[in-house]
Amino acid sequence: MKISVCSMLSIFCVLSLLSFSSAANPKKTNSGQDFVQCLIRSSSTSISKVIYTSENSTYTSVLKFSINNLRFDTPSTPKPIVIVKPEAESQIQTVIYCCKKHDIQMRIRGGGHDYEGQSYVAQVPFVVVDMINLRSIEVDPVKATAWVQAGATLGELYYRIAEKSNTLGFPAGIWSTVGVSGLVSGGGYGTLRRKYGLAADNVLDARLIDANGRILDRKSMGEDLFWAIRGGGASSFGVILSWKLHLVSVPKIVTVFQTARTLEQNATEILHRWQTVAPRLPKDVEMRVAVNPIWTNLPNEPQKTVQDDGTPSLNGTKTVSVNFIGQFLGRKEKLLSMMNKRFPELGLEAESCFEVSYIQSVLLFSLFQATDSPLGLLNRTAYKIAFKAKSDYVNKPIPKEGLEGLWKVLLEQEPGRTNFLLTSYGGKMAEISESAIPFPHRAGTLYMMYMRVRTDGDTSDSIKWIRGLYKYLTPYVTSNPRTAYLNYNDLDLGLNKPHGKTSYKQASIWGKKYFKNNFDRLVIIKSIVDPDNFFRHEQSIPPFA
Ligand SMILES: Cc1cc2nc3c(=O)[nH]c(=O)nc-3n(C[C@H](O)[C@H](O)[C@H](O)COP(=O)(O)OP(=O)(O)OC[C@H]3O[C@@H](n4cnc5c(N)ncnc54)[C@H](O)[C@@H]3O)c2cc1C
Ligand SMILES: *[C@@H]1O[C@H](CO)[C@@H](O)[C@H](O)[C@H]1NC(C)=O
Ligand SMILES: *[C@@H]1O[C@H](CO)[C@@H](O)[C@H](O)[C@H]1NC(C)=O
Ligand SMILES: *[C@@H]1O[C@H](CO)[C@@H](O)[C@H](O)[C@H]1NC(C)=O
Ligand SMILES: *[C@@H]1O[C@H](CO)[C@@H](O)[C@H](O)[C@H]1NC(C)=O
Repeated sequence: MKISVCSMLSIFCVLSLLSFSSAANPKKTNSGQDFVQCLIRSSSTSISKVIYTSENSTYTSVLKFSINNLRFDTPSTPKPIVIVKPEAESQIQTVIYCCKKHDIQMRIRGGGHDYEGQSYVAQVPFVVVDMINLRSIEVDPVKATAWVQAGATLGELYYRIAEKSNTLGFPAGIWSTVGVSGLVSGGGYGTLRRKYGLAADNVLDARLIDANGRILDRKSMGEDLFWAIRGGGASSFGVILSWKLHLVSVPKIVTVFQTARTLEQNATEILHRWQTVAPRLPKDVEMRVAVNPIWTNLPNEPQKTVQDDGTPSLNGTKTVSVNFIGQFLGRKEKLLSMMNKRFPELGLEAESCFEVSYIQSVLLFSLFQATDSPLGLLNRTAYKIAFKAKSDYVNKPIPKEGLEGLWKVLLEQEPGRTNFLLTSYGGKMAEISESAIPFPHRAGTLYMMYMRVRTDGDTSDSIKWIRGLYKYLTPYVTSNPRTAYLNYNDLDLGLNKPHGKTSYKQASIWGKKYFKNNFDRLVIIKSIVDPDNFFRHEQSIPPFA
């Protein structure tokens, strides 16, 4: 990939002059046809080949391909007037110019995993710029760096790294279909977090288009804007074109492990211990816990599949399963002796641990089998459900009574509808300062909580349930502010107005939850680089009024 900083493409110079004159013109129009005409007239490339409107037969399939939360794939979900799938960077500059001219909002889509559909849904007339065609990846195994175009997925990145080296990796997310740009620009964690920190902690450079249509790199954008896009959510600041990433060392062989306990098997006690043990383990071990209701048969009761009256039985009683899942950057024997010393309550056994190559562990965590071909990582077709999710952070262990109350709430749900995950922090995560990048959840954080419920079927009940769960957790999680992870964005925390400006005070209600005091610096940077608030969505950073 060429890294030329053509901050003033001659064509765009003309375009941005036009855009200033049009800003003074009060007669703006929302008409899709005028907008498409503007794109075609203003582009020196054959842009019509990458424009999709409702008149193109492939419009719906292009739109749906990267809708990864089916809650936003309904007939009543607002649809973009145009989808543009740029093949050249200058086509994005053209879209920005025409959006300004016709007062149309722009949404930028990478992998399309946004929890609230913000990359492809808006309540005002809007265009989706889908980055899917700009996804080349260049790995330099000698320098341990990679230039990655914005539309790539994590799976594509991991595949291209593994193609060049079996001892290099990148500390990003777990699921292969997630987009690099959404993930990195909101922080981005995965199995290597305790050793190397976040994806955003390992970015060396970036190229982006700002609200004036200029193409900037780290040097020309300056350290403030470069700070903001690594964890502050790039969609408030510009269109990321590519990232330069620092690759990290991984052993050829790693150990993955998984072992589950039910409430009847002392899960409460073991999880209670996990809260303080896991964040203090050596950096080479990461351990998450999935806590979910399951069906179980009582030990001495034969399984009934049909009840006496002929209706299907529930196959036993519901209980909570606490499933410990982890990775060790080393061999099995060392893991076992360490765990039996540091966490004997878990009783980790050799049969629950598997030595695999590093790329096989990547496949396993992304829900493939270790024996599957790594080529599966290139598959962008995601496993999709309709869901609502929320997050929390825990700084002091939840007492056993608190966990017991949590089981009651979880048991209200049918097995298979929830995903409640606890992700241990500590290690490198705690060594990086709270203001190094906008992501502020560092020293003192024991673990992150992620809660998700399926919303297909009885939507209002599921959403009511997860809000109830969130309320239940209040005394046990961070407060003032109660913090949340930007990449698990949650519109229950607050919203910008679709038209007009949101006050600093109002936006800080959710802004401080995601960023703590880093929110203030993000607002200052936004006010300088995008004072007219061109790049906006429901929870974008507002400029000062
Ligand atoms: C199944 C699943 C698994 C996940 N696993 C993890 C995980 O392991 N670790 C983790 O940290 N997170 C995880 N996440 C959360 C994930 O990091 C966020 O949802 C992330 O925002 C998704 O990025 P995307 O590009 O796929 O999404 P998109 O919906 O395309 O984008 C998300 C946001 O980024 C913006 N954006 C995208 N591309 C650009 C660009 N080029 N320039 C500027 N802005 C852009 C969008 O406008 C939007 O605001 C997971 C999510 C899902 C659904
Ligand atoms: C969509 O339809 C328009 C009008 O027929 C056409 O110009 C354009 O090339 C089509 N888009 C694609 C991607 O085929
Ligand atoms: C649960 O823990 C107690 C001691 O705290 C122990 O005696 C018992 O064997 C454990 N039960 C199981 C199923 O591990
Ligand atoms: C009960 O068991 C049967 C047979 O294993 C299975 O098909 C059915 O889905 C189970 N029902 C529930 C509610 O889990
Ligand atoms: C890609 O993944 C999807 C979802 O898991 C699956 O249905 C499909 O068969 C896969 N495609 C290929 C070519 O493997």
